[in-house]
Amino acid sequence: MKLLKLLASLLVFSGLYWLAVQKHAERDQLRLASVYLTPNCKEKLARYDLTPAEYYRSPYVQKMTGTESTGRGYRAEDVRAIQRGCNIVDDLQGNLARDGPRERWHANRFVRGTQTKCAHCHQSAGDKQDAAGNRLVGSNNLGASWVMADMYDRFTGMLLPNELRQMQCYINSSNGFKPNAADDVIRDVTAYSRFLAAALDMKIGKRYPEQGMDEIPASATLRRGDDYVRGAHVYRQKCASCHGAQGFGTVVDGRAIYPALAGPDAFSLDSRMNFAKVNTVMPGFICRNMPPQQEGSLDNQQCRDIAYYLSTLPRPAGDLQGPLVAAWQQMMMTVMPPLTRYAESIGGNVAPPASH
Ligand code: HEC
Ligand code: HEC
Repeated sequence: MKLLKLLASLLVFSGLYWLAVQKHAERDQLRLASVYLTPNCKEKLARYDLTPAEYYRSPYVQKMTGTESTGRGYRAEDVRAIQRGCNIVDDLQGNLARDGPRERWHANRFVRGTQTKCAHCHQSAGDKQDAAGNRLVGSNNLGASWVMADMYDRFTGMLLPNELRQMQCYINSSNGFKPNAADDVIRDVTAYSRFLAAALDMKIGKRYPEQGMDEIPASATLRRGDDYVRGAHVYRQKCASCHGAQGFGTVVDGRAIYPALAGPDAFSLDSRMNFAKVNTVMPGFICRNMPPQQEGSLDNQQCRDIAYYLSTLPRPAGDLQGPLVAAWQQMMMTVMPPLTRYAESIGGNVAPPASH
C-alpha cells in the first residue's frame, strides 16, 4: 500500500516536471523565433537602425545633433527581445500578431479588459515625437523612464525600479494583474526601453523633460475651481465623437480604435490617470495630446474640468480598494450606461445646459 502511494506521487510529480520542461522548451522556441513587427514598430526600429552588430550607432542622434554616438551593439537575441518589447507596448492585446497572441507572450493574460494597451498612454510606442523628430515634453517616454530607473518616484516618494513601474502600469493603468519581475513581458519591455534610451542618446541617471507626464496643477489656472459639469460639456463637444458619449471608447472589428476612458476596459481608480487619485497628470495628458491634430487647443482649466468629469464615470476599482468598492464599481459599470442611455432617450437633461 505504501509503495503504491509512493509510486502514485512519483507519477504525479514526474508528470508535472514533464509539463514544466515542455513549457520551457516552448518559451525557448518563441525566444528563438524571428519576430513579426507591428507596422509602428517596424517603422520605428528600422529608422533607429536596429540590427545585430558589434557596435550600435544611432541614426537619430546623427540626424538631430550631427555627432556620432557609438555604443555596444546588440546580439541577435537582444534584437528579438527589443522587437518583442516594442510589439508588447504597441499591441498588448496581440491584435496584430501573426502567430496569435503567443508571439506577445500572451501579454493580454495580465490585463482584464480586452482593449487596453500601453501605447494608448505611452503614445507612439512610448516614443512620441513631432514631425521634425523632436521629443516632446511630458510625453511619458519609455527610454527617458528607463534611464531614471531606481530614482525616487515623484508621486510615491519610493525608490522604484523600472520593472516595478511596469508592474504598476499592468495593475492599475491597464486594470490587470502583476507579472512576475522575471516574466518575459517585463524583460522584453525593459530591453526595448533600454534600446530607446540608446537610440535617443539618453544618459543613465539623468532626468529628461519627456519623462513622465506633464502636470497641470490647479495653480496653473485662474483658480475658478475645477468643475465636472463644465468638464462634461467640453467632453461632449471635443471628445465624445471618438471616446463615446459614456467614455467607453470605440471598438471596430474587435479592436479599440479609440480607447475607453471609463468602464471595464479603462484604467482603474488607482491609476495616476484618475483625477481623484493624482489630479495633475490627466489634465496634463489631455492638454498635451488631445484631441489629436488639435493638441494644445484647450486651456488648462478645461483640461482639469474634463479630467474631473472623467473621474466621476464608473471604472474598475484599484488594488488599494477592498472587495466592497470593487463590487460597487462593478455594479455602477453595469447599471449606469443603460440608465444614462434611457434618461437621454426620454429627453432627460443629462447633458449640462449649453450656455453658462
Ligand atoms: C491609462 C494610461 C496608461 C496605460 C494604459 C499604461 N500606462 Fe504606463 N504610465 C501611465 C502614467 C499616468 C504613468 C505615470 C507618469 C508620471 O509619473 O508622470 C505611467 C508610468 C509608466 C512607467 C514609468 C515611467 C516613469 O518615467 O516613471 C512605465 C515603465 C510604464 N508606465 C510602462 C507601461 C507599460 C509597460 C504599459 C502596458 C502594459 C503601460 N505603462 C500602460 C499611464 C499608462
Ligand atoms: C479624433 C479622435 C479623438 C478625439 C476627438 C479625442 N481623442 Fe483621446 N485618444 C484618441 C486616440 C486614437 C487615443 C490613443 C492614443 C494615440 O493613439 O495617440 C486617445 C487617447 C486618449 C487618452 C489616453 C488613453 C487612456 O486609456 O486613458 C485620454 C485620457 C484621452 N484620449 C482623452 C481625450 C479627451 C479628454 C478628449 C477631448 C478633449 C479626446 N481624448 C479627444 C482619439 C481621440
